[in-house]
Amino acid sequence: MSTFDFDHGPERRGTDSQKWQKYAGRDVLPLWVADMDFTSSPAIIEALRRRVGHGVFGYARPVPSTTEAIVEAMAKRYGWTIDPAWIVWLPGLVVGLNVVAQAFAQPGEEVLTLSPVYAPFMSAPKNSARASVSVPWAHDGQGWAIDWDALERAVTPKTRLFYLCNPHNPLARVWRRAELVRLAEFCERHNLVLCSDEIHCDLILDPALPHIPTSVLSPEIAARTITLMAPSKTYNVPGLGTSFAIVPDAMRRARFLRATAGIVAEVTCLGFTACEAAYRDGEPWRQALLAYLRGNRDYLLDVIARELPGVRVEAPVEATYLLWMNVSALGLDNPTAHFEKHGVGLSDGAMFGAAKGSHVRLNFGCPRATLVEAMQRMKAALPS
Ligand SMILES: Cc1ncc(COP(=O)(O)O)c(C=O)c1O
Repeated sequence: MSTFDFDHGPERRGTDSQKWQKYAGRDVLPLWVADMDFTSSPAIIEALRRRVGHGVFGYARPVPSTTEAIVEAMAKRYGWTIDPAWIVWLPGLVVGLNVVAQAFAQPGEEVLTLSPVYAPFMSAPKNSARASVSVPWAHDGQGWAIDWDALERAVTPKTRLFYLCNPHNPLARVWRRAELVRLAEFCERHNLVLCSDEIHCDLILDPALPHIPTSVLSPEIAARTITLMAPSKTYNVPGLGTSFAIVPDAMRRARFLRATAGIVAEVTCLGFTACEAAYRDGEPWRQALLAYLRGNRDYLLDVIARELPGVRVEAPVEATYLLWMNVSALGLDNPTAHFEKHGVGLSDGAMFGAAKGSHVRLNFGCPRATLVEAMQRMKAALPS
């Protein structure tokens, strides 16, 4: 039995939780925005308590042990040797996506990605008058696949950047080495900077599938890659606004830093504390979390297959705590509004670039009992 209790989360109704405030006063289970209803790792909570006890919360810089915790985690988990000098701290990954667009593309130039994908991949370039170009994922009968011909056709003389979601949200997909190698070759051939969002990398559910940081493929690809990471998703600390970019190439790092100047807030003392504790001391909790999430995933796949006709999970759920469901067979104009009316708050697939009415995303980072209730409500909501 796990020494951590994932079956009982603290009450989040009436708190500052964005996820729960959305449905304040309504009987809707919020399974939308990607944070979890579990208390964070005790190691993090204890480290924060100690830091709060100090009582002074001045402007902060990471102490060496914080950076070392990241360097060690990268080496141990992924065989990736990083130089502490490559790390650029950020208050969030969405900030990173926006900074990358401004640093490596000019107004009017294009950023390529594969959709459906986490919405800011498509909106970040547009925030600063860059264009976003999405190539749809293909389905090969087994799972999601890249349409390489479509990807080639999407490149224009104005394409500057490729945004990769590794592992992929919302498709819950782990990239295979051969695919990453081919993508890297594609970016090199077209001279694109590769922005690799690896926020979900510590949440691989399938033990047979390693996470491969894009930058480990070769020194050449590392030189053109901006990797974005954070302890936020995995350790449930996104509200602490602590993330980082890893930029091995000195020129690109300087360019990235220039684009942050004066507008990107610094990481806070509490954020650094949580980050260090997460990477250095949070491993037993993370392993227990992964086991619990696997159980949640398996429970959902089983109930959906048996009891929710018309709801389809089209590919293995290999990573993240996000379940992408095809509901087009239900023939609903607005599935999200429909399920909300029946007490389940999902994310609308259209936000990720899916066809309207075709998909919804469910966040299963919550106690199993919440999912049991949600599945009963969804079953009752199925159109007859
Ligand atoms: C792929 C991906 N990138 C970034 C984020 C958000 O990052 P942040 O809260 O650090 O801006 C999310 C959140 O769901 C995500 O799924």
